[in-house]
Amino acid sequence: MINRQDTTRLWRDAILFDGRQTSDEKMALLVVGNEIAQLCPMSELSDEQIQEAETMHSGGVITPGLIDCHTHLIFGGSRADEFEQRLEGVSYEEIARRGGGIISTVRATRASSEEELYQAALPRLQALIQDGVTTVEIKSGYGLTLKDELKMLRVARRLGSEQPVNVVTTLLAAHALPPEFKDNADGYIDLICNEIIPAAAAENLADAVDVFCEGIGFSVAQCERVFQAAQAYDLRVKAHAEQLSNLGGSALAARYQALSADHIEWLDEDGVKAMAEAGTVATLLPGAFYTLRDTRVPPIDLLRRYQVPMALATDGNPGSSPIFQLSLMLNMACTLFRLTPTEALQGVTSHAARALGLSGQAGTLAIGRQSDFCVWDIHSPSELAYAIQPGRLKQRIFQGEIS
Ligand code: NIG
Ligand code: FE
Repeated sequence: MINRQDTTRLWRDAILFDGRQTSDEKMALLVVGNEIAQLCPMSELSDEQIQEAETMHSGGVITPGLIDCHTHLIFGGSRADEFEQRLEGVSYEEIARRGGGIISTVRATRASSEEELYQAALPRLQALIQDGVTTVEIKSGYGLTLKDELKMLRVARRLGSEQPVNVVTTLLAAHALPPEFKDNADGYIDLICNEIIPAAAAENLADAVDVFCEGIGFSVAQCERVFQAAQAYDLRVKAHAEQLSNLGGSALAARYQALSADHIEWLDEDGVKAMAEAGTVATLLPGAFYTLRDTRVPPIDLLRRYQVPMALATDGNPGSSPIFQLSLMLNMACTLFRLTPTEALQGVTSHAARALGLSGQAGTLAIGRQSDFCVWDIHSPSELAYAIQPGRLKQRIFQGEIS
């Protein structure tokens, strides 16, 4: 391998979206080792600096490495049969009540070995990587026993250590009620609080704890117990909330200084206010909205008015969002939710970083930052949201290495 420590590498004449805004002139980005050493207009670069550096690319658009801050990309089996049922008019909730949905993926995931889950997740992760993703959050939530939740989190950690991408893990044991706890949801919450969270914390397998606060998931009171247990282990929390109904899960999450509340189609103004006060990010998941053919759009204007940062993610999972292409979410967020292209891009960069507790470390380009960035073969950043067109990623730089 070439020793990159001393070489200065130059990306020149690029339009730069730094995670917040787009440059109005052509920019230069200099990398030394693994670090962004300079970021300035081309006009400020001396001839000497240009000559001394090794030019890696000229032109195009540079963005931070993209961040997919909400995925369930480790799972066994497939739910193509349920896709067909939904096309015939059976609802997502009805399928769940019949013992399908999340629970059918739980059965397949429990039956899979760590190696099988790893091999199944790999092409999904590679699809995200080829789409410019350098940081991805991966949830558990299809094991629902101590052993199987930890199994999923170990696979997530292994993906992060063996693949060229940062992986952030989230324990989502409170995703659905496992069949062995039928009519005993509180007993399952006891297991999560007393055994699963402590074990995940002891092995450092979870960076955060998530819940599904919903009629087909868990009540506000049950989610609150999970948050209290997470807090006792210094784990940040987040919630799938207000997806199919308004139970107040987002406001609960905000009371526990949640990193994010996700989905939020049914969020009301009080919930938005609570999130604004707590600094909780609103994570929009247009892939699930699209797949489930929802009609209720998240309260985008209220989120703007109260300046709640909006993140955007694939929610990649076998049921509600079998989508492993983050760039497609840019288009869907604009077309379905009426985000501006800039808002959508912030959603997969700076705001997504914040949703993972990584503000200042990922999702923005600045001098001194680790060099995770993408070079796109386009003329303006908004083209990423405008056209549904894979293959425009020219270079992906992860920890200083081009891939
Ligand atoms: O984010 N809402 C709950 N959980 C996932 C769906 C999981 C599944 O259907 O397998 C979601 O949409
Ligand atoms: Fe989800």
